[in-house]
This record gives sequence, C-alpha cells and structure tokens, in this order.
Amino acid sequence: MMMANISCTQAQQQINGDDSLLRLAEHRRSVRKYTNKPVDRETIDKILTVAALAPSSYGQNPVEFVVVEGHEQLSKLADCKRIGAPSVRGASVAVVVMADTSKGELWVEDASVAAGYLLLGAEQYGIGACWNQIHLRDGQRLSASDEIRQLLGIPDHYEVLCVVSLGHKDEQKKSRSGEQMKQGRIRYGKF
Ligand SMILES: Cc1cc2nc3c(=O)[nH]c(=O)nc-3n(C[C@H](O)[C@H](O)[C@H](O)COP(=O)(O)O)c2cc1C
Repeated sequence: MMMANISCTQAQQQINGDDSLLRLAEHRRSVRKYTNKPVDRETIDKILTVAALAPSSYGQNPVEFVVVEGHEQLSKLADCKRIGAPSVRGASVAVVVMADTSKGELWVEDASVAAGYLLLGAEQYGIGACWNQIHLRDGQRLSASDEIRQLLGIPDHYEVLCVVSLGHKDEQKKSRSGEQMKQGRIRYGKF
C-alpha cells in the first residue's frame, strides 16, 4: 500500500538498496519453544503469503499448505512422526507443507523453497518457527507422510515435505553473522 504513490523505480530502489533481508536471515533461528499466546490469523496469512510467493519449477505452484491449530490436533500431528516432533506438540499453530505431485516431479525442491520462505516470513513478523522433517521419516504404523495424509484428509497425489511449527517465541537464540557463516563455503569460478 505504501508504494502506491511512488514510481516503480523508486520502489525497486527501496527493495534493493538495503540489507534488510541479510539482517533478517542473520536473525532467523529455529525456535522450538512457544508461549501460550495465539498467533493471530492475519499474521499467519501474511507468513503464508510470503511462502506462496516462492519460485517453483515451471511456475506450476504445486506447493500447498494446511494450517493446523488446537492442542489436540497438534498433538495428533506430532504423533504422526515416530521419533516425535515436540515443537509441533507445543506450537500455537503448525503448517503442513505439501505439494501436488501431478504438477511436476520436482516437488521436494519446490516445497523446500516454499518452506524456506515460510521460515523467513515468520521471522519477519516476529514469530518463532521450526522445520520438522516428514518426508522419508517413519510414522507409528506407516510413513509419517501417509499418517499425516490420513489425519488431515490430504489426497494421495500430494506429498508432505515438512511441518513448520509456529508460535510466539519462548526462547531467545543468538543471531549469527553472515560473514562468519559463509567462511570457507564460497568459491568463485573453480572449487
Ligand atoms: C531439511 C531440514 C530438516 C530439518 N528437520 C528438523 C526436524 O525434524 N526437527 C527439528 O527440530 N529441526 C529440524 N530442522 C531444523 C534444523 O535443525 C536447524 O535449521 C539447524 O539446526 C540450524 O539451526 P537454525 O535453524 O537455528 O539456524 C530441519 C531443518 C532443515 C533445513
């Protein structure tokens, strides 16, 4: 809305001209403990809007989300992973990140990019978040993915990549420096 009265060039300069995304990425950490304060719908919607803007293979947008709320349903969701998902059990809300596999074979990549955007979106709005791996993980009887499909009525042609737990932060973690994190990991031109 704020950009309505400024030119495209000015808007571009505002987006490109600062380090706000770098600072956000430095600040983002996996947060697994949450307060009881609910996350309001508007904030959840904004976070998911960021995730929905992730790029996807051939622009097919195969990634979809199921928002799960309520202690009982969150506990059932956590139980779908045999080794457990404590941050899901204690979350205010959790987002199942899944992809419609009829829209292309690169569903793992597509869903991973969207989940990454989701994590950054949560941090942008001050919400703690943690990726809980589901793909290739066991459930109690079936695969974790199959058990989540059954629990939430997700059709068979969808694959579940992960569940992102969300909530107001109840643990503080130190930011990390981008300068330090990239040490020894970037090469130009040749290995
Ligand atoms: C592919 C992937 C799978 C992950 N699986 C889990 C998981 O099952 N449970 C969990 O608590 N954290 C999980 N994480 C979070 C990582 O443990 C965390 O990102 C890592 O330790 C780095 O910490 P940071 O997120 O605070 O930077 C996962 C992260 C990724 C990217």
